[in-house]
Amino acid sequence: MNHAEFSSDDVVTHFIRGPVDQLPGPHLLHEEAEGSETIMNEPPTVAKPRSRGNRLSSASPVVIVAGGSSGIGLACCRRFAADGATVISGDLRQSAAGQGAGEWIELDVTDPDRWRAIVDSVRTRYGRLDALVNSAGILFEGTVESTSLELWRKVMAVNLYGTFFGCQAVLPLMRQSGGGAIVNVSSVSGIKADAELAAYDASKGAVRLLSKEVALFCARRGDPIRCNSVHPGVVDTPMLTGFFAEATLSSEQQWNNAQPIGRRIVPDEVASLIVWLCSSEASFLTGAEYVIDGGATA
Ligand SMILES: NC(=O)c1ccc[n+]([C@@H]2O[C@H](COP(=O)([O-])OP(=O)(O)OC[C@H]3O[C@@H](n4cnc5c(N)ncnc54)[C@H](O)[C@@H]3O)[C@@H](O)[C@H]2O)c1
Repeated sequence: MNHAEFSSDDVVTHFIRGPVDQLPGPHLLHEEAEGSETIMNEPPTVAKPRSRGNRLSSASPVVIVAGGSSGIGLACCRRFAADGATVISGDLRQSAAGQGAGEWIELDVTDPDRWRAIVDSVRTRYGRLDALVNSAGILFEGTVESTSLELWRKVMAVNLYGTFFGCQAVLPLMRQSGGGAIVNVSSVSGIKADAELAAYDASKGAVRLLSKEVALFCARRGDPIRCNSVHPGVVDTPMLTGFFAEATLSSEQQWNNAQPIGRRIVPDEVASLIVWLCSSEASFLTGAEYVIDGGATA
């Protein structure tokens, strides 16, 4: 069935009747990583992941989340799983994929062969793929002068090449599935530069335009595959904790203060936007960029 034919009522009914543990395929539960969900500032009250019904387009949606073991990716896995999707969490490590976050599969996003193997496995086991979230990423400090070629290549390999490999790998199966949605997690750093994040800024800016290219390519081919980029500001994740532990040029206070809303973003707030972008509610949205930064770039 084409996803455009599905009404949200159908999907609500399906999801209410079909909890995760009744869907086909394994849904492994994993241990919480140490310190993976540390809330550093005052925790805001945000909606907990729960089944909302009208999310993805097909009756038995299958999603891949790259970088699904931590932070924003993990929050996406939980939300998709709560909505009844079969979730494949691809990451270098397993430990952070908490309860209800789907099945972990080892993935180094810089390896195109591994991407192809995972998509082949999803095709064999589930016969379809509805959404891909490219959330794997790394963040290192370095100005245009101080960034070594080694660091530049490392950041590009994960943030940009990894996103490219992921998009390229999933398109045939999404096409075969009758459509799909890709969300690439860029950053406000893909829109507005920081003096001390040369490689990161460049990688995230490239992800922004790559996402638009994927969107145009699919639309012009007539493939019902949408692709959008999401640009978070300062999100409270292990990535940020690690970054500030080592940073010498970047001020944590300055970063926090840059968001007029007055606090860091909670990963689940970003996941909420991403999951919505993958849903049939966002059916005309493609090639667009979604900033979620508490007003930082306003
Ligand atoms: N935290 C923020 O403030 C912030 C802001 C803007 C954008 N982002 C972006 O959001 C995305 C998620 O970041 P996060 O803050 O949740 O970080 P995180 O460190 O909590 O999660 C990133 C995940 O990516 C995985 N990963 C790293 N390299 C990988 C590789 N080669 N192959 C597979 N997985 C790999 C890590 O193991 C980790 O589980 C990143 O792309 C990041 O650049 C984060």
